[in-house]
Amino acid sequence: MGDFLENLFNHAHGAINHFPIALLFVSAGLDLVAEKRPNLRSTAWLLLVLGTLGAVGATVSGLLAHLAYEDDPTLLSAIDVHQYLAFATTALFAFLTAWRWHSLRLGSDIGGTRVYLALALLGLVVLGVTGFLGGNLLTEYGIGVRGITR
Ligand code: HEM
Repeated sequence: MGDFLENLFNHAHGAINHFPIALLFVSAGLDLVAEKRPNLRSTAWLLLVLGTLGAVGATVSGLLAHLAYEDDPTLLSAIDVHQYLAFATTALFAFLTAWRWHSLRLGSDIGGTRVYLALALLGLVVLGVTGFLGGNLLTEYGIGVRGITR
């Protein structure tokens, strides 16, 4: 049981970070499609909220995951780039959520506007690079990976 919980804790970030990646990509995709199918607009908004909550969860779990590597400057500098891009991603989508929530309260949805879509697209690029570099922390640096011995 102790091993199971330790394993679960060690890999919590690897589990949680899939939520923002999946939900935010689909949210922006639905906003694009909603030009032709307006009933999808509210689903795009729901996925934006859930994806942003996922980004906050990924950020918190990532910060906890990195603590064990604080004493290694090489690993830490690789983690740092991933960390700061993750902060930028989370801040951008938190801003989009707040802005869209405000617009909905005023009775209009900014989800289909050019500025919103451009910022969401920028967010997806930064999110994509964040995820790619996160993957590299495992595959290129071996962080959190138990080696295979044959
Ligand atoms: C939007 C926020 C974030 C996303 C989407 C994200 C994404 C990822 C991805 C895709 C991986 C590869 C691991 C896997 O899939 O199993 C990863 C690993 C990692 N990330 Fe993040 N990350 C985020 C925030 C952070 C933050 C703020 C830190 C703080 C330093 C961090 C630290 C790490 C570490 C140490 C690893 C390698 C070890 C492990 O997975 O526990 N991440 N991240």
